[in-house]
Formats: sequence, structure tokens, C-alpha cells
Amino acid sequence: MCGIVGAVAQRNVVPVLLEGLQRLEYRGYDSAGLVVVDDAKLKRLRSTGRVAELIQISAGTEGRLGIAHTRWATHGIPSERNAHPHLSKDLIAVVHNGIIENYETLRGRLTRAGYEFTSDTDTEVIAHLVHSHYVSGMPLLRALQLSLTELVGAYAIGVIAADNPDLLVCARRGSPLLLGIGIGENFIASDVSALLPVTNKVVYLEEGDVVEISRQGYQIYNAAGVETTRPVQVSEISNESVQLGNYRHYMQKEIHEQPEAISNTLESACNSQSIMPGIFGAEAEASFANVDSLLILACGTSYHAGLVARYWLEEIAGVQCTVEIASEYRYRASVPNPRALVVVLSQSGETADTQAALSHAKSLGHIYSLAICNVPESALVRQTKLRFLTRAGPEIGVASTKAFTTQLVALFLLTLVLAKQRNRLTAECEQQHLHALRHLPAATQKVLDLEPKIEKLAERFASKHHALFLGRGLHYPIALEGALKLKEISYIHAEAYPAGELKHGPLALVDKDMPVISVAPNDALLEKLKSNLHEVRARGGELYVFADANTHIQEEDGVHIMHMPEHAGYLSPILHTIPLQLLAYYVALQKGTDVDKPRNLAKSVTVE
Ligand code: G6P
Repeated sequence: MCGIVGAVAQRNVVPVLLEGLQRLEYRGYDSAGLVVVDDAKLKRLRSTGRVAELIQISAGTEGRLGIAHTRWATHGIPSERNAHPHLSKDLIAVVHNGIIENYETLRGRLTRAGYEFTSDTDTEVIAHLVHSHYVSGMPLLRALQLSLTELVGAYAIGVIAADNPDLLVCARRGSPLLLGIGIGENFIASDVSALLPVTNKVVYLEEGDVVEISRQGYQIYNAAGVETTRPVQVSEISNESVQLGNYRHYMQKEIHEQPEAISNTLESACNSQSIMPGIFGAEAEASFANVDSLLILACGTSYHAGLVARYWLEEIAGVQCTVEIASEYRYRASVPNPRALVVVLSQSGETADTQAALSHAKSLGHIYSLAICNVPESALVRQTKLRFLTRAGPEIGVASTKAFTTQLVALFLLTLVLAKQRNRLTAECEQQHLHALRHLPAATQKVLDLEPKIEKLAERFASKHHALFLGRGLHYPIALEGALKLKEISYIHAEAYPAGELKHGPLALVDKDMPVISVAPNDALLEKLKSNLHEVRARGGELYVFADANTHIQEEDGVHIMHMPEHAGYLSPILHTIPLQLLAYYVALQKGTDVDKPRNLAKSVTVE
């Protein structure tokens, strides 16, 4: 979603801003812009296209202080006039992530005070508010602080003034923002990856922080206005890990990185002979002993990981588990159980709905919380008592892949820890599970070898408008995930059903133009699934079956079988996810869509 980069330096900052914006492209955006101070004037460039277009029109623009932005429209259509930065009377320039909820009231008041609005955005009120205080003689920092007292909503904000070429001020509440510390130059960004070419020394701002940044240094003021310090951290994300390398798209790269991502995620757990609760945090053992159930909260792909985990947790650990979509839970009048462990799942750790759902759970009296997240310094991780970091590495493709499979690994480890603590796991079973986990990276690699076959298969889908995915039990959420992947990047309408539900509605859709994709593991529900597949064939539906060995589903006219290399028992959902990711990827390639940045979607959904 929206991204911010800002810089105050002794060199021309335009290349730094543009490269930063390019590195934020993966978050999703529909327009981009930048502004620099040059010769006591604001020079602004905006474009509704890709950052590449902004680069083209930026030739000759220079400045040693500037802010830049990628916008994902919330208030006002994607257009140049709505793109950031927004200016007030050519004196103040503002970039903003988040939503200002009371902008209409402020807009009315500022209009009456003589300010002319040139966009439909909520952001423009910030520019005029800061201007109104600044021209009354206040320092820029104070003008921003006063403006913030009038804002209701969420924000990360960067502000510069035409007559102040040495100063950048910024603030955060509800949207991430960090400082990048250089030598004789300093930066701001909403995501560390934007700054990796210039520095890996970062300061993560806290809620309510307001900061004054110059070339020589910075002063942070907390929500109460008191000068404060925040630790300088060296980001572990390397510049290389966000490069595309030899792959055509980040999504393809990330699908292929899964064996390594899983292996890295398992490192802390599988190095010892038994699985210890400590991998979820120092207080995990004591907390887990007190909890009687789990409440999993997540959005999108992460929600699907939660749905898989429910099967594991109830069957293996005997722990009751509810999984809720975060955006629903936060507004639902639910009955809280203070002994439930609230588990928030998120690749980014920034998703606004998941953060709000966690806060809501806490406000209802939930005291036990665990974040399973892929971004170490993210907001979500800082808000829970317990945490487990998946080690998938940066995920750039909007459609989540390696973050999902590593979430599943983390959730399986959680299942084993809880099962063991509840005496539901014999030492022998624990060793078997550990063995299966250690083998998982190799098993994942074998599934990736199916790629050429899936690439061929994808040719049959490019002309389709709809697709149906079927799964049962543990693999029903995998069918959901497969359908989501196809929707997200190929724009083919896809639905997923538990195969047993077919006859209660979706069977009416089945004809020769509706491909039906089935996940067919060799498990206890196989025979039931086979009956469901016959129901499809009998209606002339074309079947594509991802089948484990020894499932004895015959390839015949209208039935296409993709043979999975082996059966992974409880871990099977992780393996069965991979061919569906590859299928979506190759169908999208056939259709020529923007695989890594699908239309209308964002990687980090930092607004509601
Ligand atoms: C967006 C992304 C999805 C992701 C979802 C939840 O919609 O496009 O890929 O699954 O957000 O994100 P999170 O970072 O919380 O896992």
C-alpha cells in the first residue's frame, strides 16, 4: 500500500527518492510523486503510472531535501491531482500514509479560512493545517505537532517547507515509519527495504513519535512531546535478498525459495532432539499452560494458514481453535474467553485489520497473545507477549507464497508444543514429526520439480473465465488458497469448496467450460473425494487432480492427473500448496498480467 521515502542530504536526493519508491512498488500503488526543495522553491513531479514514468519526467530535477510517495487510492480516484505530495500555497509539502477520518470537518473549516483544495484526498488537509500554524511563526516541528492534535485517524507523515532547505519533519501513529541513519545524511521511509541502498542503520518510530531531521542528526519527541531516544538497529534484511536475480518475477523466485525458507524457519526448532515451547518466547511455557483454547486472527492468505492450523490443533493437540477474519472479528460482538491464546498471523506484521483485531481482543480482556510474523521489527510483533518469526526472507510479490508455507510450519510447531504440554504426544510420535519436518525442505524441492508440467497445464486455463477448486479436511483451506492465488494474479474468477459441499450448490456451475481443480491427498477422506470427483465427471466437468502416490485415480478423457511425488502425512497441505501457486503463476504468465503487482491489490494493507 502507500509508501513514503524522504531524504535530507548533501547530495542530490532525487535518485535516492526514486530508487526508494521503486523498492516500495511491491506494496502496491496507483500513482507516485516527489517534491524537492531547490532554490527556496518546491519542485513537484507526479505521475499516475509506474515509478518508471516518474523517473522519465524527473531528468534535470535536483534538490538536497525531498519527500516522495507511492499512493494507493482511498479518498479520491487514482489521478495526478490526487497523487502525493500535496502542497499548501507552494510553501508546505506533505506525504501521508493512512486515513484521516475527520478530514471532511477539517476541509470545511480550512476552506472557510481561505484555503483552496486541489485534490479529493484526506491528506491535503494536513498540508493546509501545517501551513496555517507555520505561517503564524511557529517552527516546522511545532506546526506539525499542533496539526496532529487536530487529526483523528492513522498516519505516517513527512513534511518539508520551501523556506527551510535543511529540515525534514515526520510523525507516525497507526502506520509504520522509520528513520534511516547515514553519514551527513538522514532518511525516512515506511519500509526498510526502500533505504537499503543508502543505509542499514534504522530507528523504528513508536506510536505518537514526531521527529525533526537534519543532515547532522535527529530529535525524536514522544506522544507527550518529550524528547526521547529510540534504539538504532542494524537491519538484517540484506540488499541482495530483495533483488530479482535470474527469475522472471518475484513470485516465481519466492515460490522457489520455499525449501530454504522452510529450512530456515525450522532451524531453531529442529536443531534439538525435542521441540521446546521456548521457540515462541521466554514466557511461552507458562502462558501455554494456562490457555484452554486458541483464537486465530488474520487476513487473506494468512487467514488460510489459520484454517489449516485449526485441523492440526484440534486433532493433534486436542485444543479447541477458532479462526476469524480480522476485519470481521474487530467489529463483531464476540464472547471473549480470557483463557484463549490470541494468535495473530501476518506476513507483514502491518495489516491494519489484524492490528486492530489484536487491540480489540486485548480490550475484551484477552491476556495471552502470540504473533507469527515474517517481519521482525513489525508493529504486530511489538504488540504481543509471545512471538515466532518465520524466516522466509523479504516477500516482494503481492500474492503471498513462501510466507504462507512458513506460517504453516510455525503453526505445526505450535501444535506439537501444545500437544506435548498436554501429554498428547508420545516421545516416539514427536520424533516422527521431527523427522517429517526435517525432510520437508527436500520434499518441497521435489514438488517444485513439477514446474514444467504445470507450465504446460496452465495453457489450458488461459482462456477460462471461471474455475472451481475442491479439497477436503486439512486440504480444504489449500483449495481456498489455490483459488485466491488464481484470482489475485490471473484475474480468473475462482471459488473453492469443501468437496462434500459440491452437491449443495456449485455442482450447478459445472460444465465443460468450468475447470475443476482438486487437491487429492492420500488420506482418510480419499474415497469420499473420489465420489465427489465422479459427480463432476458425470456433469461433463474437466478435472485437474493433484494426486498423491497410490491414490489410484485414473487419467482418462477429461481427467488430468498431476502426480505429487510423495505423501507427507499431516504436512501434506504444505506440499499441496506449491503446485497451486505454480499453476496460478503460469496462468498469469499466459494472460500477461502484472504478476508481482496485480491490479487493485497491495502487499501491505495498512488501512482499513
Ligand atoms: C494483502 C496481501 C495478501 C496478504 C494479506 C494479509 O491482501 O495482498 O497477500 O495475505 O494482505 O497480509 P499479512 O501481511 O497480514 O499476512
